[in-house]
Amino acid sequence: MIKANLNPMSMIAGTGSYLPSKILSNVDMEAIVDTTDEWIRTRTGIGQRFIVEDGTITSDLCKEASLQALEEAKVLPKDLDIIIVATITGDVKFPATACYVQKKIGALNAAAFDISAACSGFLYGICIADHMIKSSGDINILVIGSEILSSITNWKDRNTCILFGDGAGACVMKQSDGKKGILGTYIKSDGTLSELLTMQGGGTKYSHLNPENDEKVNYITMEGREVFKHAIINMVEASRLIIDKVGLKCSDIDLLIPHQANIRIIESVAKKLKIPKQKVFVNLDKYGNTSAASIPIALDEAKKEGRIDDGDLCLIVGFGGGFTWGSAIIRF
Ligand code: ACO
Repeated sequence: MIKANLNPMSMIAGTGSYLPSKILSNVDMEAIVDTTDEWIRTRTGIGQRFIVEDGTITSDLCKEASLQALEEAKVLPKDLDIIIVATITGDVKFPATACYVQKKIGALNAAAFDISAACSGFLYGICIADHMIKSSGDINILVIGSEILSSITNWKDRNTCILFGDGAGACVMKQSDGKKGILGTYIKSDGTLSELLTMQGGGTKYSHLNPENDEKVNYITMEGREVFKHAIINMVEASRLIIDKVGLKCSDIDLLIPHQANIRIIESVAKKLKIPKQKVFVNLDKYGNTSAASIPIALDEAKKEGRIDDGDLCLIVGFGGGFTWGSAIIRF
């Protein structure tokens, strides 16, 4: 039941993450496309990525990450009110992957839906959940970012296939006691640039029934340099905007957790924000770009590694296809 709103703040009460068992190293990539470990490390910062075994689907990854987050939050699946899955690689066209997650974890009292905002999807989910808790009060929301990008990767295209990996991250959000929680969120899009990073097939424009479908529509396509440029500009803007909105300075941030797409993007964003390297969380070398899963996996790992203390201020910021971007500041 939705109760009266007594406290306007939401918090992250538990996190979890899950990576499939199969590792694809840069050296393995050398046998797939014309590339080298050295090129991939230097240009992207990626050393390996995790890839699912055949038969594993996105909601399977969601389930594992979610059960960890629920356990840490001490929330039972039956006490979840909302399940949000951010993904561009859902199980099926419809229903939502969130509905399959609902079934798999036994959260039968929840409403479940997906959001599509590519690499910014988890941030969009956090923003929606924060506003739902602010307006509805004492409710429990599971926000998941989960992707099997290997299923939409063109393994013949060295410009893109070296970048992506599979995985899932989740968090349980609930009402805060007012001391810790989400201080602010910001999301934005620019649909005029949608063609620069896209997968065109599978929708109404290029039906899966169309025999003329080819690799141009069935896989991710990307104008790498353009994405790179816009990612830096908009992640910096989103960071400055939210820091300013909640009345902080860049120097107040204890840990920056950026979307893990390219080490050069991350370093450039941190440099422009004057946030020193030791305050920036990077795990890109192990997982590659897992799109909507990258920030929740990083958040969970940062907590498990002891990088976040009580009272710390974390800035999370992301950018992806759409273009979409966003940011949030969390006090732990
Ligand atoms: N191995 C070896 N050489 C390669 C590879 C590869 N895997 N890929 C491209 N090259 C070659 C190119 O063919 C080109 O050769 P040429 O000069 O003979 O034409 C050369 O390397 C340079 O190519 P660029 O595309 O200019 O390389 P760049 O330094 O821009 O790096 C990259 C490419 C890594 C894709 C970069 O542009 C990037 O990271 N862009 C951001 C995109 C991104 O992160 N997308 C993920 C999804 S969106 C998001 O999450 C932010």
